[in-house]
Amino acid sequence: MKASEIRNTFLKFFESKGHQIVASSPVVPGDDPTLLFTNAGMNQFKDVFLGFDKRPYTRATTAQKCIRAGGKHNDLDNVGYTARHHTFFEMLGNFSFGDYFKHDAISYAWELLTGHFKLPADKLWVTVYSEDDEAYDIWNKVVGVPAERIIRIGDNKGGRYMSDNFWMMGDTGPCGPCTEIFYDHGEGIPGGPPGSPDEDGDRYIEIWNNVFMQFNRTEDGVMHKLPKPSVDTGMGLERIAAVLQHVHSNYEIDTFVGLIGASKAAVEAAGGADVDADSPSLKVIADHIRACSFTIVDGVIPGNEGRGYVLRRIARRAIRHGYKLGARKPFFHAIVAELVTQMGEAYPELRAAQARVTEVLKAEEERFFQTIERGMEILEGALSSGTKQIDGETAFKLHDTYGFPVDLTADVCRERGVTVDSAGFEAAMNRQREQARAAGKFKMAAGLEYSGVATAFHGYEHLTCDTSTVVAVYVDGTQVEAANAGDDAVIVLDHTPFYAESGGQVGDAGELRNPTSRVLVEDTMKIQADVFGHHGRIVEGSVKVGDVFAARVNAERRAKIVRNHSATHLMHKALREVLGAHVQQKGSLVTPERTRFDFAHGAPVTDAQIRKVEALVNAEILANAGAVAQVMALDDAQKSGAMMLFGEKYGETVRVQTIGSSKELCGGTHVKATGDIGLFKIVAESGVAAGIRRVEAVTGDNALAYLQGLETTVTHVAGTLKAAPSELETRVSAVLEQVRALEKEVAALKGKLASAQGDELLSQAVDVNGVKVLAAKLEGADAKTLRETMDKLKDKLKTAVIVLAAVDGAKVQLAAGVTADTTAKVKAGELVNFVAQQVGGKGGGKPDMAMAGGTNAAAVPTALGSVLAWVGDRLS
Ligand code: ALA
Repeated sequence: MKASEIRNTFLKFFESKGHQIVASSPVVPGDDPTLLFTNAGMNQFKDVFLGFDKRPYTRATTAQKCIRAGGKHNDLDNVGYTARHHTFFEMLGNFSFGDYFKHDAISYAWELLTGHFKLPADKLWVTVYSEDDEAYDIWNKVVGVPAERIIRIGDNKGGRYMSDNFWMMGDTGPCGPCTEIFYDHGEGIPGGPPGSPDEDGDRYIEIWNNVFMQFNRTEDGVMHKLPKPSVDTGMGLERIAAVLQHVHSNYEIDTFVGLIGASKAAVEAAGGADVDADSPSLKVIADHIRACSFTIVDGVIPGNEGRGYVLRRIARRAIRHGYKLGARKPFFHAIVAELVTQMGEAYPELRAAQARVTEVLKAEEERFFQTIERGMEILEGALSSGTKQIDGETAFKLHDTYGFPVDLTADVCRERGVTVDSAGFEAAMNRQREQARAAGKFKMAAGLEYSGVATAFHGYEHLTCDTSTVVAVYVDGTQVEAANAGDDAVIVLDHTPFYAESGGQVGDAGELRNPTSRVLVEDTMKIQADVFGHHGRIVEGSVKVGDVFAARVNAERRAKIVRNHSATHLMHKALREVLGAHVQQKGSLVTPERTRFDFAHGAPVTDAQIRKVEALVNAEILANAGAVAQVMALDDAQKSGAMMLFGEKYGETVRVQTIGSSKELCGGTHVKATGDIGLFKIVAESGVAAGIRRVEAVTGDNALAYLQGLETTVTHVAGTLKAAPSELETRVSAVLEQVRALEKEVAALKGKLASAQGDELLSQAVDVNGVKVLAAKLEGADAKTLRETMDKLKDKLKTAVIVLAAVDGAKVQLAAGVTADTTAKVKAGELVNFVAQQVGGKGGGKPDMAMAGGTNAAAVPTALGSVLAWVGDRLS
C-alpha cells in the first residue's frame, strides 16, 4: 500500500466513524507563542481541548504536517542514525472533543490496524500508563491482547507525570496518560520491547499513540482538569507505511525511495562521484528537504534567530552531508521537484510554492558554499590532533565566521566519536552577544542578511516617494514574509527618500503609509552600502514583501538635521581659518538637536577664538550664498580643492558639496542656501583625547531656544539680585566682596567664642594623680579653633590630658593634647584614635597633639565620657 493510500484509508476509516476530515494546519502555528513548530496533530485543536474554542463537530481526523526539530519534541540529532526519526513527518490522527473516550479510541485503533491494514495481532504490543487500569483492562479484556504483550510504564523520565506514557504538547497545555501501540519488526532487527533496556533499537517500533486528554498543565506546573475528557491520537505515516510495505526502515518506503534517488542524482550532478545509494547521508538529505521545503512554504526564511535559524540549521546540515558525498556546488534545491511529485497532491500549497522554495534554498546554499570548504578545513584541522573534544572557541569561530551552526559541527564530530565543548561555545556566544549589545543598534542593522535589489535614494531632491515597494522585512533580526501591527520591524524599500545614517549624519525618521497600513519610521540605517533599513513600528495593518507604500520623511526633523550639517561644513572651514590648517576632522555627529565636531588641535579653543568662529560662520549665513552638490571624478574633486578626510577611502566618483565658501566631499543632505541655517551658536568646547578638541554647536530654532534660555537665566538672576541685567557684573562683584568680608568677621567671632568657652572649660578638668583630665565639646569650632583652644588650655592647666570635639552636622572633628610632662604615660595619637573609633573615624599625630575626624556625631557624648577612665588607667 502506497503512503498516499494509507493516508486516505486512515481518513476514510475515521470519516466512516463520524469524524470530520480537517485539513492539516501550517507547520508554523498561527497564534501559539508556546510552539516553535507544529509538533502534533492536536496543535490546531488545542483551544478546543481547553474549552476555549467550539467546532461544529466533536470528532475530527487529520493528516498533519509536523516538524520536530526544536522545542520539547526534537528529533534532529537522531535523523540519519535510526530507521524511524524525521525532522518532518506526517501524523495521522483522530480526535474526540468530549465525545468518546478510552473504550472507543482503543477499539477503533484495533479495528483499523487488524481489520483494514490487516496487521497480525501477535505482532502488536501495547504500553499503558502504569496507573491506568482502565486502559489496561480494555486492552486485555475487551480487545483480548494477552497480558505478556501489555506493558505498564510509569514515571520513567525523572518526575511526576514525566513518562513515555504521559503525553504533553509542551511545558504547558493539554496533556494526559496515553497508550502506545508497537509493531514488532521481527527477530532479525536489533532492539527490545518497550520498557526493556534495549528498547531504543529498531525492532519494536511505536506506530500509534492514543492520548487520553484529561489535564491542562499551566506554567506553575499545576495540572487542571479539562472540562471534558477527550482523545488525541497520532500515528506516524512513515512508520505505518514501513510496516505495510514490509520494509524495516522508514527510509525504504515509496516516498523516500523517490527522494533518496533524487538526492543521489542531485549530489552526483554537483560533483559527487558514484554515491552509495545506502549512504546515511542520503537519508539525512531526503529527510531534511521535506522539513526545509514545508517550513519555507509556510513563510519561514533562513535566518539567525527563531524559526529562521532552525531552518538554517536543518538546511546546512543537509548541505554538509551532500558536501561529504562530494557535492561542491548547490544541489539541495534541485530535490524540491521530486518532493513536489511525491507530496504535491496531498499538499497543494507545496506545489503552489515550488518556485519560491527552490529559490530560497538555492540562495541559502550559495551562501553556505562560500564558506563550507574553509570551515571544513578548520574543523578537520582541529580533529586531526586526535582530540576527543572540540574546544568552544573553535566551534564558535566555525559558527561565527563560517556559518556552521554548532549542531552541524557536533554532527561532523559525532561521526568521529568526538564531542563539542558546548559550555565553552556558549561562553563565546555570550561574549559576542554582550559586545553586540554594547555596539548598539547600528550593529544590529549591519548584521541583517540581505540579497536583493539595492535601494535607490531620492532624498537629496525629495522628501516623499509615492510608490516605494517593500523588498524585505525583518523582525527580531530575522527576515520574515510579513510583519504586523505592533511589530518593531526593519523594512527595506526599493526606492526611498529616507537618508540612512552615514558620514556622521543620523538617519531620517518619518512615515510609510498606504490605504491599509501605517509604519512610524524612527530611524534609517544601512544594512549594506546601498541597502537602507527603515526601522520602525507598524501601527496599523501589516507590511509584506511586495506591498507598496508612500514614504514620507519627517520634514521638520530633516530640516533641523540639514541646518546642523551645513553649519558643520562652515564651522570646519572657519576653525581652520582661526586656528590653522592643522585642524583636521576626527569625527562628527549631526543630529536634529546639534552638531558635534571633533578635530585635531593641541590646546583649548579660547573664548575669543570661539567668538571669531561664530562670527565667520554667521557672516556666511547672512551672505545667503547657494549650496550645490556635484558628482565628479575623484581626481577632479581633488583639483577643485575640496576638503577631503585624510585616510578615508573614496570611490572613483565622489560628491562634492559646496556651501558658501566651503567645499567638502560629502554624501549628506544640505541646505539650499546658507541663509537657511538661520543662526549659528557654539555651546560647548572640551577636550576628548590628547590633541583632540570637541566643539558642539546649535543652529536655527535650536540656537534661538538656547539664547532665550540664557536670557531667562540672566533675567531671573538679575531679579533676585534686584539689579538691571546690564548692572549684573558690578552687582555680583559687590555681593562677592561682601561675602568675603562677612566670612572674615565670622571667623574672628568664632575664635573669640571658643576662647570664652575654653575659660569655662577649665573648671571642668578633673584631677587624676596630679594630672588635669578634660574631655569636652566645643560649640561652633573649626579645626583651627580647636587647635588654638587646645594650646590655650594646655598653657593654663600646665599638666594635662585634653580631648576636644567639634560637631558640624554628622561630621566630627577631634583634637587630643597632652602636656610635655605627661607624654611618657599618655600619647595624644593613641588617645585621639581611641575616641575617634567610637565616632566612626580615625586619626593620628604627635605624642603631645593629635587630630582626628569622624562621621557619627551622635556618639560624641559617650566617646568623650570614656576618656577619663582610659586616661586614668594609664596614669595610675
Ligand atoms: N499528540 C500525540 C503525539 O504526538 C498523539 O504523540
